[in-house]
Amino acid sequence: MSYHEATYDEPSIFTFRSGTTYKVPGSVTDSDIDLPQELIRKHLDLPEVSEYDVVRHYTRLSQMNYSVDLGIYPLGSCTMKFNPKYADKIAGMEQFYDVHPLQLASTVQGQLRIMYELQEFLKELSDMDAVTLQPLAGAQGEYTGMLIVRKYFEVKGELNSRTEVIVPDSAHGTNPASAAMAGFNVVEIPSAEDGTVDLEALKAAISEHTAAFMITNPNTLGIFEDHIGEIARLVHEAGALLYYDGANFNGILGITSPGLMGFDIVHFNLHKTFATPHGSGGPGAGPVGVKANLAEFLPVPIIGKDGDKYFLDYSPKHTVGKVSSYMGSFMVLLRAWAYIRFHGSDGLRRNTINAVMNTNYLKKKLENKFKIPYKSLKKHELVLSTENTGKKALDIAKYLIDNGVHAPTIYFPLIVHEAMMIEPTETVSRMDLDRFAEIFLESADVPEEELKKHPVNLPIGRPDDVKAARDLKVRWFPEK
Ligand SMILES: Cc1ncc(COP(=O)(O)O)c(C=O)c1O
Repeated sequence: MSYHEATYDEPSIFTFRSGTTYKVPGSVTDSDIDLPQELIRKHLDLPEVSEYDVVRHYTRLSQMNYSVDLGIYPLGSCTMKFNPKYADKIAGMEQFYDVHPLQLASTVQGQLRIMYELQEFLKELSDMDAVTLQPLAGAQGEYTGMLIVRKYFEVKGELNSRTEVIVPDSAHGTNPASAAMAGFNVVEIPSAEDGTVDLEALKAAISEHTAAFMITNPNTLGIFEDHIGEIARLVHEAGALLYYDGANFNGILGITSPGLMGFDIVHFNLHKTFATPHGSGGPGAGPVGVKANLAEFLPVPIIGKDGDKYFLDYSPKHTVGKVSSYMGSFMVLLRAWAYIRFHGSDGLRRNTINAVMNTNYLKKKLENKFKIPYKSLKKHELVLSTENTGKKALDIAKYLIDNGVHAPTIYFPLIVHEAMMIEPTETVSRMDLDRFAEIFLESADVPEEELKKHPVNLPIGRPDDVKAARDLKVRWFPEK
């Protein structure tokens, strides 16, 4: 299959002046507004666009982009599963999009029921006792979790001494960031040679100053932490809490659970496990689950049920407050609910097994050419290094994108040189896995100078990454 992305010289929509002079009947004019003249702006830089301008503009933009609807999207850790269309269809029903979060609870019983059921499903799947749906992304879930840790020790009168949160060196950057934002000092411990938590390093780091240990399991190398029981024991013996980064829940869902492993707090990245659109701090969802002894610290409101009536429950006594407006991203939560209902417990478990099988299928193919630094059987994702081929992970990533498959995550986790982190998920066919592996293997044989010429089939070649990071401009300003 040859691949070529569409290329348009598409201006910002703010520059559109397509001459639409349509005015909404009854629209407000300057003379209707009782404001001092000098405060009224004479000119607003808003686009003038008709419906077809808008639709065509965004369709053209979408054609210049790769999406989860186009093909495999195997971003390790930041996974994007296919977003099923039945969930979009449900979210498109007027009973859902036409409600307002400030409506009286008695008028939105159906919607509250869905959120209540989702809380229950997440509790059941994770073996936690209480859930908040409020956080808007995995990272915000982590931050919420850290606020709960803080409040827990504050109420116990131990906050002055519990100042540290331990993370392994394979952790996602949001873990130490969330702990630091919640006011803790971050203590990083090295991983053992097999890529799992180094128990001796953990024992050395843990003390009466430890507030929590944050880990994900399977970890960011796709390896299950076999010593998790021992880890939980060490953490709890020290009086600290064990935090589960649920980014990798897709590797264990329906097989085991964070609750069974001894975790106290967990966040769920709904997009990674429950096939919803991604959040990135915006319109996503990162619910948080806790054990019973932490339920009184959850953000409010949670959704309660009394007899057959659903209500907004503000009862958690030591709540950390609100972490988002209203109840969070209802439209995303709705899609996760639909996904869970659609698959049922057997289906969810089967998805996990297929996700793990797909990963190991790819591992078998790719290990012929690429170094896989940690050999154990992988769960939901695998990390390889391109070092042995003499090629840069970045160059291989560009080659993959240029051939119509989305590149895996690169240069993470930081403990692997020239890392490429691949998570195919279960929503990819054998045909797509084979094609992905074929292009990947082919890339190892492309001469370096040739590889560096890619991409050639995309509207944008190689952007200046450093400038993009240091000189970030995400707002459009009119040209002077
Ligand atoms: C291991 C891990 N933890 C946390 C996060 C943060 O999640 P989110 O992107 O939903 O904020 C990610 C990122 O995708 C991740 O891979």
